Amino acid sequence: PPPPSPRIPEPAAGIITAMLRKPARFLLILLLLGGRAGAAADDVPGPDGLVVSASRPASKVGGAVLAAGGNAVDAAVATGFALAVTYPAAGNIGGGGFMVVRQPDGSATSFDFRETAPANARPDMFLDDRGEIDTDRIEAGYLAVGVPGTVRGLALAHARLGRLPWRDLVEPAARLARDGFPISPTLAAALNRELAGPMRPFPGSVAAYGKPDGSPWQAGDRLVLADLAVTLEAIATDGPDAFYTGRNARLVAEAMAANGGLITRADLAAYTARERPPVCGCFLGHEVISMGPPSSGGTALLQMLGMFEALGLERLPADSAEAVHLTTEIRRRAYLDRARYLGDPDFVAVPVDRLLARPYLQRLAAGIDREQAADSRQLAGDLVGHPGSDSGETTHYSIVDGEGMAVATTVTLEGSYGSHVVAPGTGFLLNNEMGDFNRKPGQTTASGEIGTPPNQIAPAKRMLSSMTPTIVTKDDRVVLVTGSPGGRTIIITVFDVVTGVVARGLEGRAAIDAARFHHQWLPDRLIVERGGLPADLRRQLEILGHTVMERGSQGAAHSIWISPQTGTPLGIADHRGPDAAAAAAPPAAVGEPSP
Ligand code: DON
Repeated sequence: PPPPSPRIPEPAAGIITAMLRKPARFLLILLLLGGRAGAAADDVPGPDGLVVSASRPASKVGGAVLAAGGNAVDAAVATGFALAVTYPAAGNIGGGGFMVVRQPDGSATSFDFRETAPANARPDMFLDDRGEIDTDRIEAGYLAVGVPGTVRGLALAHARLGRLPWRDLVEPAARLARDGFPISPTLAAALNRELAGPMRPFPGSVAAYGKPDGSPWQAGDRLVLADLAVTLEAIATDGPDAFYTGRNARLVAEAMAANGGLITRADLAAYTARERPPVCGCFLGHEVISMGPPSSGGTALLQMLGMFEALGLERLPADSAEAVHLTTEIRRRAYLDRARYLGDPDFVAVPVDRLLARPYLQRLAAGIDREQAADSRQLAGDLVGHPGSDSGETTHYSIVDGEGMAVATTVTLEGSYGSHVVAPGTGFLLNNEMGDFNRKPGQTTASGEIGTPPNQIAPAKRMLSSMTPTIVTKDDRVVLVTGSPGGRTIIITVFDVVTGVVARGLEGRAAIDAARFHHQWLPDRLIVERGGLPADLRRQLEILGHTVMERGSQGAAHSIWISPQTGTPLGIADHRGPDAAAAAAPPAAVGEPSP
């Protein structure tokens, strides 16, 4: 069936009237409405199920699993393994992630397969002789690697909720790695950059990802990942133990020992994925289901939504200075609480219930000055001592099946291509997730370095994440499945998409296309997507005391939105991810964002 005809929701109609009165705001409004001509034509309807991911071949693998009778969790497992092949910047078996699942009966759960610190990790392991943070050792190389969680996590989700045989879900990825696949212009360029720079010091990485004749990759070349195929084949046949014990564990541990890394065979054997209750909350008559600690994502998202509702922000035009100011203040407060309280719940008591209690959020909201931006450092009392940013890559994928099961999964290697290390013979990239711990105990700086106790390094502890895989329902039906990459901006991107759909009445595509703006408490800056903020609005925000800056695009929220009119799920690949695609079950219809 064709996508439903575009409909301008009521609040948006109000914005159009305002636009005619204030033409200077035209650009923002255009972005808010998803003004990219013909964008909706990219949306893929999937009444029998849908997979939307950063990579077209990976989406097709998931779509084929749905077509073969797999449920959404089966498709998530298969898509996850396929992304480890076709989207090496962030898709992984050498990293970690989170999966949020809502079953057709309304019950929800989540799977935590976040990396852990190795047994020999220490809180000050990233400080140099002068006691300063050594960013080189965080950004690349063996010391930055956390014990990978993805294979155990996908296996746990499959054991709990999957339907098809495990082998059938891993095999498509093994086949992609063994037979190779034609690479996109984006992947060719990224691999060439990696091989010329960050991967160069690591022979295992060059052997795995270099073109056999040593020349640069061209779009359309076939990338064959022979070692990865062997590793995936072993996982397909012998299950997750093939990753955590035996040959693979030996190869990883030997390379670690030879190159200053910490991970041992014992660390790998001890890794455990966890099923945890998700965090849930009400927002304007909808239920929001998201990831709890050790991700900060769901908790901060629900805090921001609670403050949004307390302030009645849905009644203000989204493009007004007042709305942008108040939303910024909400963000500032949620990110301050994130720094104060959030960490691995197996190690620190995270007061999630108290942070999400309505009276607490109403009190926070009531403390916001409508006329003046707060000062992040003052707001934090004595938390901030001295004078960071998030970089790299993560990837989110969204799935629904024909029976109404929904799965939101976000996985990461932390930086793009993680630590840039492939342990020789294994074929897969290892993460650099250790940098998501607080790197210098006690040092919280105005530039965004956080040194608070809850997220300091300890053996076997999980580092705090911002990943926010999220499912929104109304009247017991799924409305939205979403999530994003983007480090600390992830939570904001998800907040923008959720409020776009729920509070502004935007259609899915318009909510995804809308200009995003970010604030994370520290650094104390309001950062907007380039071109997303008209000059007069920017001036008003500056008068209110905000420091406004521009950036390139923020996030890549590959989402599924269920049209309330038709009830049909639409796969919406975010245009900010150039190779993203939605695949419906059966996987005949494959849509891609326009270039
Ligand atoms: O877990 C986290 O929050 C980070 N490691 C995610 C990193 C990230 O999203 C970088 N991507 N663009």
